[in-house]
This record gives sequence, structure tokens and C-alpha cells, in this order.
Amino acid sequence: MLRVENASITFNRNTVNERKALDNISIHLEKGDFVTVIGSNGAGKSTLLNAVCGTYDLDKGQILIDGIDVTRQREYKRAKHIGRLFQDPLRGTAPSMTIEENIGLAYSRGKKHFFSLGVSTADERLFREKLSELGLGLEDRLKTPVGLLSGGQRQALTLLMATIVTPSLLLLDEHTAALDPNTAEKVMEITDKIIKEHKITTLMITHNIKNALEYGNKTAVLSQGKLLLELHENERKDMSIEKLMKLYASSTTDTLTDKMIL
Ligand SMILES: Nc1ncnc2c1ncn2[C@@H]1O[C@H](COP(=O)(O)OP(=O)(O)O)[C@@H](O)[C@H]1O
Ligand SMILES: [Mg+2]
Repeated sequence: MLRVENASITFNRNTVNERKALDNISIHLEKGDFVTVIGSNGAGKSTLLNAVCGTYDLDKGQILIDGIDVTRQREYKRAKHIGRLFQDPLRGTAPSMTIEENIGLAYSRGKKHFFSLGVSTADERLFREKLSELGLGLEDRLKTPVGLLSGGQRQALTLLMATIVTPSLLLLDEHTAALDPNTAEKVMEITDKIIKEHKITTLMITHNIKNALEYGNKTAVLSQGKLLLELHENERKDMSIEKLMKLYASSTTDTLTDKMIL
């Protein structure tokens, strides 16, 4: 489904700020895989997602989605099949538009005629149903401007918008990191439910090792632009946070922050 092959990206080449963000990294996701990604600050996690989306070009290597080589494909073309969430809840939605208008825009992306005026009754019913599945009471607030919602509500809405037309690939970049612990847990549960329901192939960066081992079916550990460890189903089952920390410490000079363990 997703194949990243020997991908390398160096920023600011030939300057004092030269930085190898991705160093010959390969990672493969089967259809329906839900891979959690952890690693210290600057390990290259966001760069990996940016490379998959086409935000950054690779210096070397290849990216294949559904067997198609997209290495040279522009970002806007890939975006049609990729759902994406960032840490910042303000990034995925338009604050002055209503909940309904925001979902309507996301929904029309999957249709032939991109631009449609207003939201039909059938669409409205679908939106209400999808919103009620979030369990946040947003189904009764279709006309509310998104700017009035809390960070957690906005992140849940962004998730709904990213998946209302099932994407080939869902990329989550620490999408719960800016939320308070309770809200983060709630958004994580919603995320898991949506991914499972639609069997969406997902790459999820998380700052939380517990979440990394708890959700998904595989875990990838990045360090200094490389894939340090890859834990598959069975290895993951036997893995505790303590064991993973030890394994990590014995394979790299990088350190994980306390924030990741809590
Ligand atoms: N656009 C950019 N320009 C220059 N350097 C960058 C850019 N994006 C990331 N980097 C550098 O690449 C390295 C990896 O960054 P990133 O992928 O954001 O790490 P992570 O998400 O794992 O914390 C870091 O050293 C970072 O400073
Ligand atoms: Mg990052």
C-alpha cells in the first residue's frame, strides 16, 4: 500500500545548518496497517510524513502509494487520496465557516463536481450521523462557526473531514499532542474507531509511547533519520514501555523526553 524505499532528505545542504532529516529510510505499510511512529525530537518523523505527502521532495529514493510511483507527483495531486492531521487544531478547519460548511467542503472533494452550492438534505443527514458518532454533541451544532469550538472538538472534526471520503492513506502527526490529557484520550479513541471501521491504512506519529504500543498493529521507532526498530504484531504484544526504552537506549545515542513516557 505505502512503500518508502531508501528515502533521503538533507536540509540546507552545504551550509552550516546542513541536516540529514531522512537517511536512507525504508518503510512498508500493507493495506489496512495502522503503524504508530515514535522517536525523539528531530528524528525525522514529520519529515517522513511530509515526504509521503509531497510537501518535500526526496533527494534520493522512491515513494509508492497503491503500487504507483508518486515520487515526482505534486503535493496537490497526492492530497486527493491522503487524509492528514497536524498537532495544531487550528490547521485543518476554516474558523469563520460553520461545521456544516467545513464538512461540506471536505465531502465535495471526493465528488466529481467539486463546487456545489449549499448542502443537500441527504448530505445534512449524513453529516449529522457522522458527527453524532464522535460523541461530542456536535450533531446539534451544524450552523456553529468552527472558530467557537474547543481544540479537541476541532481536532475530532478535522478527523471526520479527513475521513468522510475514505482516504487511501491517513497521516497523523502528533494530532493529540496539543490537547489536555482527557481530551487527547477521547480524540485518540475516536481516531481508533474511525480507522478500524473503514480499515484505513494509517501512519500515526505520537509523542506518547503508551499510545504507540496500545493503538495500531505495528510500531516504528525513528532515530536520526533512520528506522531504528520495527515492531510487528507479536513483538509488540510482549513489549512494555520499560523494555522499549531499554531497547531504544541500547541502539542510539538519542534520548526520549519524559513527555513521551508519561
Ligand atoms: N523545512 C525544514 N528546513 C530545514 N530543516 C528542517 C526542516 N524541517 C525539518 N528540519 C530539520 O530536520 C530534522 C528532522 O525534523 P522533523 O522531521 O521535524 O523531526 P521530528 O518530527 O521527528 O521531531 C530536524 O533537525 C529539523 O530541524
Ligand atoms: Mg514532528
